[in-house]
Amino acid sequence: MNDGYVILKNVVPPDQLQPLRDSVETLLDRQVAESVAQRKASEPPGGQWELQPNPTLIVSDFVDAETENVIEFMLHDNTLGLSKRLCTAEAAAPLILQVFCDPAHDHGPGAWHRDMKPNYLAPLCGLQDDLRANGPDFVQWNIALYEDATYCAVPGSHLRPNTDEENRLLADSTQADLPGSIPIELEPGDGVAGCNLILHRGGSYRPGWRRTIHPVYRVWGVDSFGRIPYYHWDLEFTKNLSPAIREQFSGFVDLQRQTTDLVVKLFQSIVAKDETGFRRDLAALHPGETGRFVCLIELSKLAFQILSVHRPDLVKRLTGERLVDFDIVDGVVKRSTAHLPAPPPNPAGDPQIDRIAESFSLEEADVLWERFATLDAALKTDGEQFVPGFQFGPSPYRFNEMPEEFGVDEFVASW
Ligand SMILES: [Fe+2]
Repeated sequence: MNDGYVILKNVVPPDQLQPLRDSVETLLDRQVAESVAQRKASEPPGGQWELQPNPTLIVSDFVDAETENVIEFMLHDNTLGLSKRLCTAEAAAPLILQVFCDPAHDHGPGAWHRDMKPNYLAPLCGLQDDLRANGPDFVQWNIALYEDATYCAVPGSHLRPNTDEENRLLADSTQADLPGSIPIELEPGDGVAGCNLILHRGGSYRPGWRRTIHPVYRVWGVDSFGRIPYYHWDLEFTKNLSPAIREQFSGFVDLQRQTTDLVVKLFQSIVAKDETGFRRDLAALHPGETGRFVCLIELSKLAFQILSVHRPDLVKRLTGERLVDFDIVDGVVKRSTAHLPAPPPNPAGDPQIDRIAESFSLEEADVLWERFATLDAALKTDGEQFVPGFQFGPSPYRFNEMPEEFGVDEFVASW
């Protein structure tokens, strides 16, 4: 994965190609029907689905026993198994179960970006040092059921910040032709697996026949902490699926619980100012010494989310914020949350965050965030900064560089 991705032939076993196409079409009919049923007066006949440049089928929302081969494929040795091997990991679980489809209208080329918002993650160079030292802990896939060359990337950009030339070109146009960028051409059944820190975009969002399976996996048993520890599904969706699938997904929930239990233990050590316990728990979450501070920064984001579950007034969610957070075509970004260290909690609740939050009283959540206050301040610069090619606009949080002269020792000293 030196380029930041690897292209693999026949990820879909040939005898599964047509059955997968058939099931995806059935699922798609269900999602489009729902979009039509929920259409607002101001929307076109197809509702929200018809407006999207990159319409995305959420498999877990519509799958049933008849179409479960799509889920089985996302658990196959060629997908989940290979993700595990690419990361040299002990276990893997799917975070996202999606299929990218073609849009109803021509939206043209997409905006170049890395899949990250600087205020919601550690600075890019820290994430890249972690990746370089400890290998990937996260793999995203595009697996084409029909020919697809939509996905474009700049090989090698996953391990470096933007060059000056890239910044200059992207400042002029978020859709500029970047030197060295290439379209990833996939034949039916082929897949590309890679790292979402890479500079990438959809080369062209226009009507055609795109059905590209897009699962994303996190892994366990590697030297770094999975940086997106949330499942975008809950076990409810498995209730009508086969016992074998149900069992696998409940195993994924158990794995996640082991991680969240460790996070709770670590946060309790921080609240209690138990330095020995804190250092032990942090090393358990992120065994690699390089990048351990990156893991701590990610935990600071989680600490803020826990506080915002207890104090919902801390963050104000604007209507439709998630929909316009980052526009994949023109790169326009809403700035409403640029000052926040973590995403606002989902108004419907997030069982994975809520479970951690329940382990702390309001007073403890306040103390926990207080302990992170100096670290959070170190992640900000005076005033706002902006670097193109992220899923975000100007923000006080650092885009590229890690804080100088601040690390795990300084964090402990700041308690
Ligand atoms: Fe992206």
